[in-house]
Amino acid sequence: MDVKTGGLNYNVEEMVQGDRDYVWHHIKPHKLFQKSEQMIVVEGDGLTVKDIRGREYLDATSGGVWGVIVGFGRESIARAVYEQLKIMPYFAGTVGNIPSIKYAKKLIERLPGLGKVFFSNSGSEANEKAFKIVRQLATFDATRKGKRKILFRDRDYHGTTFGALSATGQHERRQDFGPFLDGFMGFPHALCYRCAFGKSYPDCNIDCARCVEETILKEGPETVGACIVEPITAGGGIIPPVKEYYPILQKICNKYDVYLIMDEVVCGFGRTGTFWGFQQYDVQPDMVTMAKGVAASYMPLSVTAVKNEIYDKFLCDPGVDAERMNYFRDISTYGGCAGAMSAALETIRIIEDENLLENSRAMGAYLLDGLQSLSDMPLVGDVRGCGLFCGVEFVKDKKTKQAISEGEMARLMANVAAEGVLVGKTTSSLPGNNTIMNFAPALIATKNDIDRIVAAVKAGIEKF
Ligand SMILES: Cc1ncc(COP(=O)(O)O)c(C=O)c1O
Repeated sequence: MDVKTGGLNYNVEEMVQGDRDYVWHHIKPHKLFQKSEQMIVVEGDGLTVKDIRGREYLDATSGGVWGVIVGFGRESIARAVYEQLKIMPYFAGTVGNIPSIKYAKKLIERLPGLGKVFFSNSGSEANEKAFKIVRQLATFDATRKGKRKILFRDRDYHGTTFGALSATGQHERRQDFGPFLDGFMGFPHALCYRCAFGKSYPDCNIDCARCVEETILKEGPETVGACIVEPITAGGGIIPPVKEYYPILQKICNKYDVYLIMDEVVCGFGRTGTFWGFQQYDVQPDMVTMAKGVAASYMPLSVTAVKNEIYDKFLCDPGVDAERMNYFRDISTYGGCAGAMSAALETIRIIEDENLLENSRAMGAYLLDGLQSLSDMPLVGDVRGCGLFCGVEFVKDKKTKQAISEGEMARLMANVAAEGVLVGKTTSSLPGNNTIMNFAPALIATKNDIDRIVAAVKAGIEKF
């Protein structure tokens, strides 16, 4: 069948075969597609995506991995990019361009306590920049000499490149890729449902946060430079730590002069109901990294934001031999390219003009309520979330909390998709526990959308 849509011409069978013959999809066991057909998306509008066979779905994943925060079909973003590309498509980030200056100002105005931004392309890259800042300072800055180790939390994900993967607490994402970089140390996760200390909140002393002090002391405070966390763990199973968690973590980091890096790649830009995920807590990060929602995933763009006092340490004098190498010697060819900046500027305008933070809060609470109403159904072990970012953990036995199998989880996912709703799940993350279904619709979701999502999950469980 030949199709013409939005200037794209293609033959359906040719595309299906071409996808099978040439494309190596991300994080997919392809053997499955020798017999069954892989989904090919062709169009999107709002929360709706259409596949190549003409089937429509309500996308509760914001484009699969939570990035399309303002929904599909935003002509104003496409126009903003088009207009910029006509005038000045690209020049290296070694010099300035107008949209990047405007965007940097807008971001800093929304990032209390931080003062400078460094642009790159992906979440992994944004985190690599943060690590490189820590490592470079550990070399030349007298007050931070030797502080090159980086702490990360079990179940958090920080990216696919070697530095970011070295800082990732998901065993299945790391498996087979070692050896990893030296100087990255893990500490326990903050999920109450499976407390790493076998305790129950609130009688737990918040040991999951306090234990970080032990790790720092064991490693030697003079060797530890930073601690990176996702404000709310995303791919590791939608884990909002309890409210006391970050103030405690912050106090420990401050005590030992350890930078607190918040990875806002998923939580940023309203996903949790506040502009930044960390704003759900009483905490002030030293660095913030972001991607995905930055330009609503219409263009690739990521950012590493730092406090001015960190940036100032790199203000060396190139004329002085002992100092001349002490500027941030890092570059990213496409980082901050003008088109992506224009998309990012337009994304912030949409978030604010359309009150999407408020909608994320209201619809998020409605979604959490709806999912919690399924708590008494079989298989539903735990329901958790914050803003338009929720997860349901599926178990065979509610008492022992034994997770359902991967095959059973796949069946459940297929049941929900058969209801016309796309949801996400923990994928190749946690051995024996990739059974957390996640929900992160675009921030424009309505009550009707949420009702459809919850109804699809309910039907999926009933048909199981
Ligand atoms: C919290 C977090 N940080 C970093 C990344 C890596 O981002 P990217 O895939 O753009 O490199 C991801 C990706 O899912 C993520 O969820």
